[in-house]
Amino acid sequence: MSATLTDKYPNYSPGLEGVIAGISTISEIDSDRSSLQYRGYDVHDLAESGSFEETAYLLIFGKLPNQAELDGFKKTLSSEREVPEAVYTALKALPKDAHPMDAIRTGFSVLAPFDPDYEAVATDDAANLRKAVRIIAKAGTMVANGHRIRQGLEPIKPNPAHNTAENFLHLMTGQEPNAKTVEVMDASLTLYAEHGFNASTFACRVTVATLSDLYSGIVTGIGTLRGPLHGGANEEAMKMLLDIDQPANAQAWIDDALEGKKKIMGFGHREYKKRDSRAIYLTKVAKELGIEKGDTRFGDIADILEHTMESRKNIFPNVDFPAAYAYYLLGIPIDLYTPIFVIARVSGWSAHAIEQLRNNRLIRPKAIYEGAANLEFPPLADR
Ligand SMILES: CC(C)(COP(=O)(O)OP(=O)(O)OC[C@H]1O[C@@H](n2cnc3c(N)ncnc32)[C@H](O)[C@@H]1OP(=O)(O)O)[C@@H](O)C(=O)NCCC(=O)NCCS
Repeated sequence: MSATLTDKYPNYSPGLEGVIAGISTISEIDSDRSSLQYRGYDVHDLAESGSFEETAYLLIFGKLPNQAELDGFKKTLSSEREVPEAVYTALKALPKDAHPMDAIRTGFSVLAPFDPDYEAVATDDAANLRKAVRIIAKAGTMVANGHRIRQGLEPIKPNPAHNTAENFLHLMTGQEPNAKTVEVMDASLTLYAEHGFNASTFACRVTVATLSDLYSGIVTGIGTLRGPLHGGANEEAMKMLLDIDQPANAQAWIDDALEGKKKIMGFGHREYKKRDSRAIYLTKVAKELGIEKGDTRFGDIADILEHTMESRKNIFPNVDFPAAYAYYLLGIPIDLYTPIFVIARVSGWSAHAIEQLRNNRLIRPKAIYEGAANLEFPPLADR
């Protein structure tokens, strides 16, 4: 905050930086240790040894599933993957160049009244848990089939044997995904699933705190995630990497960008002033993928940008940076990167909405008024 604003308004923090806006048991960011834990479990362990399904269960139900619980959860997800035809009809009505974030936001709006618990009151906890599972099951189907629709292709039916990562990749490409592709997608979904009181999660909590419904909270979250300062950064980071193109161009590019005081997309974070723990693991996975695919140029460009950003600005890559080139190497179109974030983050948003509603209070901060006051109302003819 600038010195003048601090002096003038000691209780005001622009961007709500450092403001405590709630109590939560869902995740903890430890900036000094570069650590992120979901309900006490390190995301490294979840991404490396667990699965997105175990993570989603943990976030929603508050504990890791045992084998029987995981089997049951996966079965329910499989049975809930399909979406009503009305969703596809709405997606087909969108302009072909509509951003897939607009499509998924529309998809959830159309889906809401079809939920079997549509009539449940906002605070019905059991109904919200059932809705959350349906939302997690259907998000990937809507993103992938939405992508088919804009290409003029018909939606494909989900294969009940597929997990969330496989379902998305299968529907998007029409082909059975290979094991490495699924592993990378699954790890990225786990790492994107939850991240405390970030902008979209906070927006989702604000919406449900009015006793609106869970779907409205999800739609709010999607709208908030869309911007380049939040989820949209992975798309912008990839455009930047493609612009740089070759490792030989990277040093001059970053020197120029810093000289021109440009923001480097995929770098920096409000909460991490050291490394983003999610980026550490995903960088490893993305680089391994590059080696497997015989294309290490983005990993090499990344090394140069990271080194320069650290030594000159003490700013580190966030999760969106390695996610960008991992998705590119998986052959995913760039404008699907943020929608993939949605497939993962619906689990975190749902967990937060449920937590908010279990102990709800309307969220209603104040603003400092700096406008005019006590003006005399002039007749229309005198203005
Ligand atoms: C994420 C982000 C919005 C956090 O912002 P914030 O906490 O509000 O911090 P600020 O934007 O005020 O940045 C603080 C300082 O670091 C610099 N900085 C932060 N991120 C930077 C970046 N990616 N590239 C270059 N400089 C950056 C700012 O220019 C500013 O410098 P200054 O004090 O000399 O003006 C910001 O780092 C950013 O815009 N990053 C790029 C977008 C991105 O990757 N978003 C995804 C987040 S997961």
